Amino acid sequence: MAITLPALTPIEDSLFLTLYARALDKRSSRPILADKTADEIVHNLDYDYQKFHLSTNLIINVAQRAKKLDEVASGFLARNPDAVGLDLGAGLDSRMVRIDPPPTVDWYDVDFPGVITARERLRPHHGNAHGVGADLREPHWLDSIPSDRPAVIVADGLMAFLTQDEWVSLHNRLISHFPSGEIAYNNYTKFAIRAAKHSRGTQSVADLVKSPGVDDPHEPERWNPKLKLIKEILLVREPEVAEFPTAIRLYNRLLATSTALSRKGTVVFHYRF
Ligand SMILES: C[S@@+](CC[C@H](N)C(=O)[O-])C[C@H]1O[C@@H](n2cnc3c(N)ncnc32)[C@H](O)[C@@H]1O
Repeated sequence: MAITLPALTPIEDSLFLTLYARALDKRSSRPILADKTADEIVHNLDYDYQKFHLSTNLIINVAQRAKKLDEVASGFLARNPDAVGLDLGAGLDSRMVRIDPPPTVDWYDVDFPGVITARERLRPHHGNAHGVGADLREPHWLDSIPSDRPAVIVADGLMAFLTQDEWVSLHNRLISHFPSGEIAYNNYTKFAIRAAKHSRGTQSVADLVKSPGVDDPHEPERWNPKLKLIKEILLVREPEVAEFPTAIRLYNRLLATSTALSRKGTVVFHYRF
């Protein structure tokens, strides 16, 4: 029988857009991420998914950026099996299931309390997975997370919902809480913010976008001197592009010819501290 969740706030509700995109990627003929759990949750959850008008491009984009963040997290956890992993604004994403970290890792999915309650209803409990129900703009949510272990912190689809000051403060709190670690997230350039506000596929979240966007991957290094850029991952230059449908693949190849054009596509910022 289909599960119906209590109504979520508009900002929490944004999680269904990315969840549905990952489910549609799984159902496509050439999945990029192939997230079986997303497909199962969408199948089991009574929700009006048809209100989203997701283009193939957006579906691929959501799947590819999740894959890149999975790679960052699993690479770090393989090198640091005593670490903790954090997914900020986790929604109903099953990143921990996808990356399957060593049993010594503790994984924290952080989102508003209503979302964490929904996660716990939908997902079987896993011993090393912890839900933290909190507003990431508040200062004390990190208190329940160990501060003596290295951390890999990912945020998929979160940045756009925070003001620049809130985003900078979040970085600073994370960097001062952990002894060392890595942070990776899909960045929104000023162009991407304008696109998110005006594209049909993201109309449901347009009014919730607060970030002005960041164009320079070195800008966060100026927010906190401990932060060092590892890589600006330009998704149009990543190997998954070879699997894209022809028209989208050719468009990505065109953008990939210059860094400036590549930044019109999705970019993942990856730092160490
Ligand atoms: C677009 S959804 C992405 C969800 C998930 N990362 C994914 O890829 O499916 C954005 C998520 O960020 C969460 N979020 C936004 N602002 C937040 C805040 N201030 N504190 C905690 N969570 C927040 C929302 O509740 C939502 O689950």
